[in-house]
Amino acid sequence: MHAKHLFRTLSFRLINWISRRFFASRLSFAHIEAFLFNNSFKKFFNFLKVHYEKARGHQRVTSFPYLFVFEVTNVCNLKCPFCLTGKGISGGRSVRHMGFEEAKSIIDQVGDYIYLMQLYTWGEPLLNKDIYDIIQYAKDKNIYVMVSTNATMLNEANCERLVDSGIDYVMTAVDGLSSETYKKYRVGGDYQKVINNVQNLLMVKKRKHSSAPFVEWQFIVFKHNEHEVKDAERFAYEIGINKFTPLPAYVEDKDWLPVGEEYKVELFNPERLKNCDRPWSHLNVRADGGVASCCYEFEKKDDFGNFSQHPFDKIWNNDKFLLSRKLIYQKRKGLEMDKTDLICYDCLNSGIRPSYIESPTDSQAKNALIEVKNI
Ligand SMILES: C[S@@+](CC[C@H](N)C(=O)[O-])C[C@H]1O[C@@H](n2cnc3c(N)ncnc32)[C@H](O)[C@@H]1O
Ligand code: SF4
Repeated sequence: MHAKHLFRTLSFRLINWISRRFFASRLSFAHIEAFLFNNSFKKFFNFLKVHYEKARGHQRVTSFPYLFVFEVTNVCNLKCPFCLTGKGISGGRSVRHMGFEEAKSIIDQVGDYIYLMQLYTWGEPLLNKDIYDIIQYAKDKNIYVMVSTNATMLNEANCERLVDSGIDYVMTAVDGLSSETYKKYRVGGDYQKVINNVQNLLMVKKRKHSSAPFVEWQFIVFKHNEHEVKDAERFAYEIGINKFTPLPAYVEDKDWLPVGEEYKVELFNPERLKNCDRPWSHLNVRADGGVASCCYEFEKKDDFGNFSQHPFDKIWNNDKFLLSRKLIYQKRKGLEMDKTDLICYDCLNSGIRPSYIESPTDSQAKNALIEVKNI
């Protein structure tokens, strides 16, 4: 155990340095750690099979997804202006927490193959009181578990439960180094409270002599907080954060975009998507049990299936999954894609990730994006 902790600490430091030095802090520790510490022959064999089947363009697959994006709630307590949940949009779904028994039954169907489970998509995961049991259940199945949180719920008691649950990675989303800048995006949040909360987590972790969770501070960079990035990074490492990540903002309004070249994000790039492997490697489950094509899909009407109606083995090779794999293969090979209203068709064609816009028919949002593209 001691050797594992030492190895883990040293690898954190090394990867952290490489990440900051060469990858603008965007190298995923979580994936590397999951591969190093949560592996098995069964998982590794399946991983190879996934990539073999993807490379051959298999539509009907015998492999299982090895990454699991699990939205344990789509409820939120903040109103971030460029988040669909923050805007109060439900995408036609019921707005709810996923219960422990429901979550357990889904994990049981795929857990043996999963390296990493990300317990959020939209919504604030720590509002779901069952999350600690869900984490513990996944940890007992040797799954690496991570969460992104707005940090509003990280009081000392919740931090205790979080650290005790065995969670591996907590990303805290704090976009500012002052109340003025922070509250512009995290509408409804209290800067001083979330900073205290992040410190609670670091303190509880230290008190329990626990090397986990790895704590990241994610700072979404907008025009209004861009000047604070460097000081926030310094402060983050001073208080004991393991990794500070300035994340370029995805926004529909160019007035919010930062000016620094390093924070520019390419919203339109169909080429980047031709190597999409998500319908082979990722399982995306929404709070209502809906199975989404990927984490960018938002609306219920675009779902590929639902766990409340079918088990995993009836979903993973259904017509929608087969078609999505076919479209990606056609795109990769430079073939004409089958014209279809499956969400992947527009995504592969335009390079616009579906959730950047409120709805494919929302022309105002689309026009705003086109302006962003042209600046
Ligand atoms: C929709 S949130 C859900 C998780 C949680 N409520 C949170 O805010 O961390 C998922 C991730 O998207 C990030 N996010 C929110 N708005 C964003 C934006 N405009 N651009 C880039 N990332 C954003 C959040 O910081 C978070 O890491
Ligand atoms: S805290 Fe997260 S889920 Fe909630 S509105 Fe903000 S980005 Fe969206």
